[in-house]
Amino acid sequence: MTPVIELRDASKAYPGGVHALRGVNLTVDAGELLAVVGPSGSGKSTLLHVIGTLDRPTSGTVRVAGYDVATLSDSRLAALRARYIGFVFQHFHLSAGRDAVANVADGLLYAGVPLRERRARAREALARVRLDHRFEHRPHELSGGEKQRVAIARALVGEPRLVLADEPTGALDTASGEVVMEVLRELNAAGTTICVITHDNEIAHALPRRVRCRDGEIVADSRTPAEGAARP
Ligand SMILES: Nc1ncnc2c1ncn2[C@@H]1O[C@H](COP(=O)(O)OP(=O)(O)OP(=O)(O)O)[C@@H](O)[C@H]1O
Ligand SMILES: [Mg+2]
Repeated sequence: MTPVIELRDASKAYPGGVHALRGVNLTVDAGELLAVVGPSGSGKSTLLHVIGTLDRPTSGTVRVAGYDVATLSDSRLAALRARYIGFVFQHFHLSAGRDAVANVADGLLYAGVPLRERRARAREALARVRLDHRFEHRPHELSGGEKQRVAIARALVGEPRLVLADEPTGALDTASGEVVMEVLRELNAAGTTICVITHDNEIAHALPRRVRCRDGEIVADSRTPAEGAARP
């Protein structure tokens, strides 16, 4: 089966001599749930941006769903991203002043779905993250955990095969963080491949695979057997 993500010798250098990624090799298969851990500045977000095709590597190859992203035009790349990848960020990135349904419906803007259907699917996605009682609430009327669940609903409304989350629980208290992780686990159980950056060791250890970054390199990659992953 074609891996969802395949990085070969991927490096990212910024002008001024910062090597954010150095020769990274990583294969992620369909259905995996992976934690990316490592100290601040170790390259985790850069890795996620390169995987998500938001950023191109300076050298090496990145394949998403088997496509070598360097060979795709900007419009094909945007199409791949819209159809295939959902993003979740630490600070939610919701539009202020627009309600939950509108924010989630935006996740389908580039998929060519008519407005009425976008809103219907947004309501379904909000129900999946258990927010069917908050359709009309605008971001400032939601708790942090609820905002993040809206962001997850926006990421999943297009039924992406891959969800990339950069510290989705970083701005949340433990209880809200647990609900967010539960939602991501359910999404994974339904078949979505998920990569989650986290600083929280407890969260990382509860996930079936952990990739550790340091100074732009992957220095460890470990898997927990299924029964270990299922521990509370
Ligand atoms: N646009 C940029 N220009 C120059 N250097 C950058 C840029 N973006 C990131 N860097 C540098 O690349 C390195 C890796 O950054 P990255 O954001 O990937 O780290 P991180 O592991 O996500 O850290 P954190 O846990 O603090 O979010 C850092 O040294 C950072 O300063
Ligand atoms: Mg980061």
